[in-house]
Amino acid sequence: MEYIRVRNRGPLEGRVTISGAKNAALPILAASLLGTEEIVLEQVPPLKDVEVMVDVLRALDVKVEYLDAETIRIDASQVNKTVTPGELMNRMRASFVVMGPLLTRLGRTFTQMPGGCNIGKRPVDLHLKGFKALGAEIDEEPDAVGAKAPDGGLVGGKVYLDFPSVGATQNIMMAATMARGESIIENAAKEPEITDLANFLNKMGAKVRGAGTSTITVQGVKKLHGARHVIIPDRIEASTFIVAAAMTGGTVEVQNVLSAHIRPILAKIQEVGVRIEENDDDTILVQSTGRLKATKIRTLPYPGFPTDVQAQFMALMCIAKGQSHVEETVFENRFMHVDELNKMGALIVTDGNEAVIRGVEHLVGAKVNATDLRAGAALVLAGLVADGETQVHNVFHLDRGYYRFEEKLKGLGADVERFVE
Ligand code: EPZ
Repeated sequence: MEYIRVRNRGPLEGRVTISGAKNAALPILAASLLGTEEIVLEQVPPLKDVEVMVDVLRALDVKVEYLDAETIRIDASQVNKTVTPGELMNRMRASFVVMGPLLTRLGRTFTQMPGGCNIGKRPVDLHLKGFKALGAEIDEEPDAVGAKAPDGGLVGGKVYLDFPSVGATQNIMMAATMARGESIIENAAKEPEITDLANFLNKMGAKVRGAGTSTITVQGVKKLHGARHVIIPDRIEASTFIVAAAMTGGTVEVQNVLSAHIRPILAKIQEVGVRIEENDDDTILVQSTGRLKATKIRTLPYPGFPTDVQAQFMALMCIAKGQSHVEETVFENRFMHVDELNKMGALIVTDGNEAVIRGVEHLVGAKVNATDLRAGAALVLAGLVADGETQVHNVFHLDRGYYRFEEKLKGLGADVERFVE
């Protein structure tokens, strides 16, 4: 196992370049199953989760070739396997979004139920509700699920999502691309990764309208061809570095970020007293102006404050002057970083999905454990400002969602090193 050692070396200074978005790359890789001609994806982040999705595609007879570290060429013309390998589903629940493409392209699919994970139960009932609305027959077993399209293929239908689930919206949208007739997804998720997936599908010849709004309409087509696509920048990675710059009192230029995707973060980071300058179209300058002020955040589906930045922002609140408040409304168990931050001298009290943070002057370095990928990032950020040395263990969580995290932090002057225990 590996751990990251973090020492406080003062403000971060310099420029950091954001990689492609993990949560756009994963569904877009799954969507490549729909294509019968060559697909080339650029700015694909070389993350552990992306490697797993590539393994899933290869297990389904898709030819996947890396043209360079971040460019992938895909040939899914020979896809004919309908069963997703169970052990790969165990490694990454996001592989569940291959169900929609297989169901619409091959008429059937069978996959292991994705396990819950430590941030919540993570049910898939809304995914299955959508497939049923498109005429699929669902066969649920305790730890697996099969879906079968009617003989003539899926039929366009209408589904209301009780919660604007990102994964369900993606899975159903992909299944609808080759259903006969029109499909409508109501109360759809509006995250930028949904829009990026829709743009990719439309380049392949799909007819998806309304992505980014609560109502997505899809006109089914017979076939989807190839496409070339550049994955959007990762708004969560960008937000993580913005919070890091703010916490350390530094001046950092964050490059390759779409500020339209991180409005809640920009609003909240200015509320705590940090100066933000949006230069040309994809660079943001973050300048810390002294002791941070307390604030409150409430995580919500996009365009609200993203749950994936909740842990990082809580780390900032630990050293902000005054009493801050966090309400986590998306996942039922996403406060596991609280105990770890409190080991570093933070004063956080939780009650259900709410947390109250009393800002302290200094955190103290400690041995802590990452519990999920964003919590891991939050603990590294806390280590950047703590007195003494912090060791963040279970960093495999971090590698799932951050490409060269230590190198990028080192490039900004941070004292971070990875060790093998
Ligand atoms: C995506 O997960 C992201 N993962 C998550 O990022 C992110 O936190 C989440 O969206 C919310 O923004 C990927 O894109 C690979 P959901 P997803 O379905 O699709 C409930 C990270 O850190 N729900 O929007 O699984 C569910 O229980 C990861 O990169 C149902 O009830 O999220 C949860 O409470 C973590 N029934 C809520 O919706 C369903 O059928 C949000 O889940 C599906 C979901």
